[in-house]
Amino acid sequence: KYPKVARVVRICLTYSFIAFAIGGFMGVLQALHRTNILRVIDSADYYSVLTAHGVFLVIVFTIFFLAGLFAWANTRSLGRPPVNIKFTWLWVGTMSAGALLAGGSILAGLVKEIDISADVLYTFYSPLQAHPLFYIGLAVFVVGTWLASFDWFRQYLDWRADNPDERIPLQSFMVMTTMLMWLLATLGVAVETVVFLIPWSLGIMPAPNPMLTRTLFWFFGHPVVYFWLMPAYLMWYTILPKIAGGRLFSDPLARVVFLLFLLLSTPVGIHHQYMDPGIAEGFKFIAMVNTMFLLLPSFLTAFTTVASIEHAARQRGGKGYFGWLKKLPWRDPAFTGMGLAGLMFAAGGFSGMVNAGMNLNYLVHNTLWVPGHFHLTVGTAVALSIMAGSYWLVPRITGRKVYSRPIGLFQVVLWFIGMVFMSAAMHRGGLAGIPRRTAEPQYTGFAFESVTGTIGSLRLQLAFGGVLLFVSLVLFLANIALTATNNEAATGLRTELPPALSGPEQSPTILDDLKIWALIAVVLVVLAYGLPLWSIINNGGLYPDGIRAAPVTLEPVLEVIL
Ligand code: HEM
Repeated sequence: KYPKVARVVRICLTYSFIAFAIGGFMGVLQALHRTNILRVIDSADYYSVLTAHGVFLVIVFTIFFLAGLFAWANTRSLGRPPVNIKFTWLWVGTMSAGALLAGGSILAGLVKEIDISADVLYTFYSPLQAHPLFYIGLAVFVVGTWLASFDWFRQYLDWRADNPDERIPLQSFMVMTTMLMWLLATLGVAVETVVFLIPWSLGIMPAPNPMLTRTLFWFFGHPVVYFWLMPAYLMWYTILPKIAGGRLFSDPLARVVFLLFLLLSTPVGIHHQYMDPGIAEGFKFIAMVNTMFLLLPSFLTAFTTVASIEHAARQRGGKGYFGWLKKLPWRDPAFTGMGLAGLMFAAGGFSGMVNAGMNLNYLVHNTLWVPGHFHLTVGTAVALSIMAGSYWLVPRITGRKVYSRPIGLFQVVLWFIGMVFMSAAMHRGGLAGIPRRTAEPQYTGFAFESVTGTIGSLRLQLAFGGVLLFVSLVLFLANIALTATNNEAATGLRTELPPALSGPEQSPTILDDLKIWALIAVVLVVLAYGLPLWSIINNGGLYPDGIRAAPVTLEPVLEVIL
């Protein structure tokens, strides 16, 4: 209906999938290298590869997909295009320029002849130091996302002027609350990069207090995981029930969930710093309590999405406690992929509870358990929902028929199986004490039994799972490329979404008062971060000269190990 917006969505999805291809390729290299199954890279390049894997996947792939999906959802649900499409292209261009700079500087680090290095991992806080282009790229990328949010707010206000008394359409509500959360969360990373890291990497300011940059990073680093997740939630709440042939169970519950994420996402970042010195235990405890509250919106989501699809199945004649499951469209890759993604999210939630517990965290901190956890969440709940959702969305924005639904179905199931192998091996490896983020030393010459199976068997499982994932990724990208160029036009596409069983009129209008919720979110952040930040600056200063005379790089460490 809005061809100019469809073009924006197509471009965002294309960039997202290019990043997926690069990041996924790095992933299989790592999986094979660190398990010593196949080594095509030098161990000294492991961090460049790992940085590329992290940044291309969790910054470029996920966020470009979000941008495309939100542009589509806001336009569809408000029933009008953005106010000024040139502004829309401005943020697409800004995000692209940022991604090119940051991504390009990481890849340049792999070319020996080019003297640029950005091996700082996707967590990029000091004292590791990257080339200024990397930080500048990240900052430009974030500015692009801010412009995108202004674009979507403006589109909403334009709609509001014509519809003063109506409830905010659900998808637009989801876009607004997510972007409010993002604007708040990115303040931390903006200060970190613009005030500290860029001037430091340019050599015009001394090294900043590492505790401060870590804390500012995690101020942003936890809410960003919900930023990855919200597009998946949007699809689970609004598209999945439709694919299942039913309706969303409860619109008010969906609104409550998105508001809870707006309120609770940011005041929890300190749970990534349980092991950090310099933050008092009491602040860590508060972060833990806030984190446990975050289970609530996830449980509400599990309830609402399952209730919606059960309703759909019963409408189609499904009977019994579990018999209704047979009436679901399992042959549809969009449905099955999202269903499996939701299942994995439940598993990821449980391993996340272990991370979140202050005492249990000591057992798994910095071990392979941690990537095991987030390959279930962002690596499957999000990535698999993106792949599955694309089988539904891409025909709607290209007008082309999905090239092969059986390949799509096979591919989403293969991702699930691959992740069962890889992630389970990572979790168990972590319990056996295997560290993350390292390919060396290889501990050869002696053998020992881990808690569950030998280390050798865990390695094989990890590598095998990684290869299955990579095959699935290649099938996905090929299927989507062939869909976009398919001569056969798609037919019978409808984007109207059926109304919820319990609609917004059954909930208080205060849910739609975004100003109040944004204000409460700010207050909670001030309460959770005010004192810890003050004490970090008070104890360590902004530039604790003498703590480190020169920036730390990983090369000397690797030289010692190798
Ligand atoms: C880390 C493999 C897909 C995000 C890792 C590691 C491996 C791996 C083996 C651990 C490296 C280490 O700690 O030494 C793979 C494979 C994939 C895949 C084979 C599929 C082809 C994904 C996806 C995402 C993702 C889809 C997110 C959307 C990450 C992140 C890290 C990581 C953020 C941590 C990087 C760091 O520690 O700095 N991956 N992965 N991966 N993966 Fe993946």
